Amino acid sequence: MKKTFLLAIAAVVMSMSARADEGMWIPTLLGRNQAAMQAAGMRITAQDIYDVNHASLKDAVVLFAGGCTGEYVSDEGLLLTNHHCGYSYIVRNSTVAHDYLTKGFWAMTRDEEIPCPGLKVVRLVRMDDVTAQVLEGVNDNMSEAERDRIIATNHEKVCRKAEQGTHYKAMIKPLFYGNQYFLYVNEEFTDVRMVGAPPSNIGKFGGDTDNWMWPRHTGDFSMFRVYADADNRPAPYSKDNKPYRPLKYLEISLAGVEEGDFTFVFGYPGTTRRYVTHDAVDLAANVENPIRIALRDIRLGHYNAAMRQSAAQRLKYASRVAGIANGWKKWQGESLGIERLRGVQQKMEQEERFEKWAQTHHEYKGVLAELGKQYDVLRRTEVERVYFTEAMMASDFMNRTFALWRLDTITDDERLLQEAGRLRTAAETYFADFEQHSEVDSRIFVETFLYMWEHGYAPFMTQSDASDVTSALVGIYDKSVLNNEKKFNKLMSSNAKKIRAALKKDPAVQLFDNAYRRVYTREKNDMYRQANAEIQRLMRKYVKGMMEQYPDSNFFPDANLTLRVAYGHVKGFRPKDAIYYTPYSTIEGIMEKENPYVYDYRVEPHLKHLYEVKNYGQYANAKGEMPVAFIATNHTTGGNSGSPVLNADGRLVGINFDRCWEGTMSDLLFDPNYCRNISLDIRYCLFIIDKFAEARHLIDEMTIVEK
Ligand code: ARG
Ligand code: GLU
Repeated sequence: MKKTFLLAIAAVVMSMSARADEGMWIPTLLGRNQAAMQAAGMRITAQDIYDVNHASLKDAVVLFAGGCTGEYVSDEGLLLTNHHCGYSYIVRNSTVAHDYLTKGFWAMTRDEEIPCPGLKVVRLVRMDDVTAQVLEGVNDNMSEAERDRIIATNHEKVCRKAEQGTHYKAMIKPLFYGNQYFLYVNEEFTDVRMVGAPPSNIGKFGGDTDNWMWPRHTGDFSMFRVYADADNRPAPYSKDNKPYRPLKYLEISLAGVEEGDFTFVFGYPGTTRRYVTHDAVDLAANVENPIRIALRDIRLGHYNAAMRQSAAQRLKYASRVAGIANGWKKWQGESLGIERLRGVQQKMEQEERFEKWAQTHHEYKGVLAELGKQYDVLRRTEVERVYFTEAMMASDFMNRTFALWRLDTITDDERLLQEAGRLRTAAETYFADFEQHSEVDSRIFVETFLYMWEHGYAPFMTQSDASDVTSALVGIYDKSVLNNEKKFNKLMSSNAKKIRAALKKDPAVQLFDNAYRRVYTREKNDMYRQANAEIQRLMRKYVKGMMEQYPDSNFFPDANLTLRVAYGHVKGFRPKDAIYYTPYSTIEGIMEKENPYVYDYRVEPHLKHLYEVKNYGQYANAKGEMPVAFIATNHTTGGNSGSPVLNADGRLVGINFDRCWEGTMSDLLFDPNYCRNISLDIRYCLFIIDKFAEARHLIDEMTIVEK
C-alpha cells in the first residue's frame, strides 16, 4: 500500500520535470544545472562551456551543413564531424574512377583539400534572452494575428540592431511555444574543404543494417577545414584564403571513458516534442509512423535490389537510400518505444492531473479539451498529407511531373520558357541511364500509388480492382512525355502555347493534378493552417500552465536546432529480457561481424592487418583493446550528429553519431532505462587517421593529451 502510494507520487513528479539525464539545456542558462553537473562528476564550470566575454568551449562547436554539428580540433580550422554528415560531399566528389566513398579520401597536403561549394559552417557568436523586447506591446486580449504582427515587427528590429556594424547574421527563435524568445547571432563560413574521410566500410561499417543499433562498430567521422580571409573573417572560396583560426579548439583526451563516467554532448539538436499531448503522441506513433514505414519498405526494396547489381548503381542510390532508411528505422523504434512505455496513457494521466490542477487555476481550464478538438481537425488533413509526401512523391517520375505541373501554372510566356529550359537541363541526370533507372522508378511509382489506393487515399483512381489500377498506372507512366527523352526535350524547346497544350493532355500531369487538387484544396489548407496555429497557441498556454503547476522543476525547451548541452553518464542497458548491453565496443566486434559476402560487413584488408599485428599505437585502452564506440545517457536527437562528446574536464573523448534503437522515442518521451546516445570513441578515430590512413600531419595538428 505504502509502496504504491510512493510510486504514484514519484510518477507525478517524474512525469513533468525532466527525468534523470533528460534534457537539452541552454548554454547561457547552464548555471542552473552547474551544481547537478558537478555532482554528476563534471570538473569544469558552466562558464567554461559558455562565456560571453571570453573564448569558451562554445566557440569550438559549429552547426555543420545546416543539420549536423562539427567541432574544431586545431588552431588551423580543422573540423571533425560524422562520416554521414559529410556523406553527400564525399559522394559529390566521387566518381567510379575516383571513388572516395568506397576508398576513402585523405588530403596529404593543403593543396589536396577539396572545396565543397554550398557547404556552410556556422559559429554562434552569442545568444540572448530577448523575450521582453520581442513581446513588447503584446497583451492577452489581442488576436493571434495581431500578436504575430507585433512580434514580427519587434523581431525585425532586434535582429537588425544585433547585426549592425558586423558581418554577423541574427535570428530569433521561440522557446516553449512562444513563452520565451532567444536571439542567436551567428557567423557563417562558406569556404569549407574536405580533408579526410575513411572508406565506407569503416565510416559506414554496418551500413543501414547496424544503423540505430547497439552494439555498433562504425567509424563514423570525416574531416573538413574552414578557411577565412586574411583577417580571419568568413569569405567565399578563394585560393588565397587562409585556414581559419578558431577562438577555441578542443583538446583531445586519450584517457577514454568507463562505465559511470560523466560526459556531456555539446551540439545542435534539431527537433523534439517533449510537451505535446496524448493526441500528438498517438498520431505520430500509431498513425503516421506506420504509413511512412510501409511506404518506405516499398522504396527500399527496389533501391536495395538495384544497388546490389553494380558499383555505379550503388553510388547512384547510396545517399538517398541512407536518408530513406534512416527515418524508416527510427520510426519503427519510436513507435515500439512509445508502446512499451504506454506513452499515450502516460500522457493522458499527466493531462488528467493538469485538469485537476486547472480547477483552481481558471486561466487554464479547458485548454486540453480545446487542444483535443484541434487535433481531431488536424488528424483528418494530416494523414492525407503524409500519403502525399510519402506515396505520391515517392518516385522521381512524380517529382518531375510535379515540376511540369508547376510549369503549366506559369502564365507569363517568357518565364514559362525560361523555366522549361531549366527543366530540360535538370532532366539530364534523370535521363542519364534512364533505362536502368526507369526499371526501379516505375515500380516505385506504381507500387506506392497502389498502396495509397488500397488504403482509400487515391479516390481519383476510379478503377475497381488492383490489377486495373496497376495497368492504368503503367499506362500513365508509358504515355507520359517524361518517358521519352527526345519528346521531352523537343517539347521543352518549343513555344509556350504548345507546351501548355501538351502538358494539359499529359496523363501524368493529369494524375498529379487530380491528387493535388483533392489534398490541397483551399478549404483543407485553411483548416490545416488554422488547426496548427491554434495548437501552437494552446500549447503556449498548456506549457505555461505546466511550469506553474510544477514551479520547482527545471524545464528545458524543446530542441530547435540551436546550441544545447546534454549531460549524463556512460552506461549500458537492458534492451530485452535476458540481454545486457555493455557500454563500449571494440575492434573485436568488427572482426566478428566481418562477412565478405555482405556489403555492409566487408572489412578493409589494411584494417584487418593492423588488427592482426595489434598495431594500435597510443590508442589502445588500458586493457590493450582498441575501443570503437560507446553509449551514454545523454539526451540527443537528429542534428546532434557530429557533436563533440566531452569528459568531466571538457576534453574531447567521442563524436556523437546515433541513438540506440530501443530509445528513439526520446524525441517525445525519455526513458533513462532505454535512452542512450552512441558515440565514436575518439581513440578509434585517431587510430584510423594515424595508423590506417597514415595521415600523421593531421594528428600533429591536434592537441592530444593523456588525461
Ligand atoms: N541514424 C543516424 C542519424 O540519424 C545515422 C544515419 C546515417 N547512417 C545510415 N546508415 N543511414 O543520422
Ligand atoms: N544520426 C543522427 C543525426 O544525424 C543522430 C541520431 C539521433 O537522432 O539521435 O543527427
